Amino acid sequence: MYVCLCKAVTDKAIKQKVAEGVSTMRELKICTGVGSQCGKCICQAQQILHNELVHI
Ligand code: FES
Repeated sequence: MYVCLCKAVTDKAIKQKVAEGVSTMRELKICTGVGSQCGKCICQAQQILHNELVHI
C-alpha cells in the first residue's frame, strides 16, 4: 500500500528502512523522500515508523 503518493513510498518500504536501522522521521525522509512534497503522508508514515520501532 502506498503511504506517500508523491514519492511512491509504500508501507513495506518504510518497514524495510526500519529494519535497516532508520529510527526517526528525519532519516526516513532523507532516504525515501517520504513527506517531502505535499506532506499529507507524514502522519501515516510516522505511525508506521513508530509501530515498527515497537516491534524491533
Ligand atoms: Fe507524501 Fe505528498 S503524499 S509528500
